[in-house]
Amino acid sequence: MNIKKMGVFAVAGALVAALALFGCSSGDGGQAKTEGGDSAGTAESGYALINDGKLTVAASLDFPPFENLNGDQPEGFEVELMQALAEEMGIECEYLPSTKFDTIVPLIQTGGKADVGVSGITINDERLEQVDFTDPICDVNQGITVLKESGITEVDQLEGKKVGAQTGTTGYEWAAENIKDVEMAGFDEMTAVYAALQSGQIDAIAVDLPVTNYYVKTAYTDCEVIAEIPTGEQYGIAVSKENPELTKALNDALKAVRDSGKYDEIAAKWLQ
Ligand code: ARG
Repeated sequence: MNIKKMGVFAVAGALVAALALFGCSSGDGGQAKTEGGDSAGTAESGYALINDGKLTVAASLDFPPFENLNGDQPEGFEVELMQALAEEMGIECEYLPSTKFDTIVPLIQTGGKADVGVSGITINDERLEQVDFTDPICDVNQGITVLKESGITEVDQLEGKKVGAQTGTTGYEWAAENIKDVEMAGFDEMTAVYAALQSGQIDAIAVDLPVTNYYVKTAYTDCEVIAEIPTGEQYGIAVSKENPELTKALNDALKAVRDSGKYDEIAAKWLQ
């Protein structure tokens, strides 16, 4: 577990929204050119793919602005980033139907269904025992969300209360470990967590800050983000430990996409 107990910055919801820094600006560049870059096949590049010429992605499509469903089409920052990486690698990118978040890392570990797991997945020690991760693709913190009318303005007020989170996430883990006498409730989908808050089943939500900022702004306007928790998490692309060539090819493609400015373009579109 690399989520340490950290202090809490309680800030007004509006401020959290206004300051929403996603840490997704252009990162360390470096020289890129992948050995698989010009090849549509897998033979020369050395990595294995479940379906030839296609990067098959497993994701929980309930995490805007990173990945979400627009009708039946996946969209978001990570979706476009994966498309850009696949293009750089000379292959296509295909998303599987939405997959329950806490099954994604095991699914990549087991192999056979998807080449990569991309789902706002925080790189941590526990997951690194099961899968490899690419270089970080985004930095985030946690956020705490309540109902506007709840009168709760600080995390300390959640002592002994009910907090909801998506099962198997770092938000769940943070709240369980850091809120005194908390009663945790786990849900499969993010939308179910917000519904539980609205119906009074839980008192607060712990989830990645950019995601709750997005949900509160676009859908759950009766909710408010009251705190940013500086957990300093980084998202990575999960790859099977048996496919290190794919991790390398993705890292090379990531460098190329950062160097070309494409990464910044995608970040500017989704992460405002
Ligand atoms: N970053 C958090 C974690 O890794 C939450 C990710 C949830 N992702 C999702 N697509 N619902 O645990």
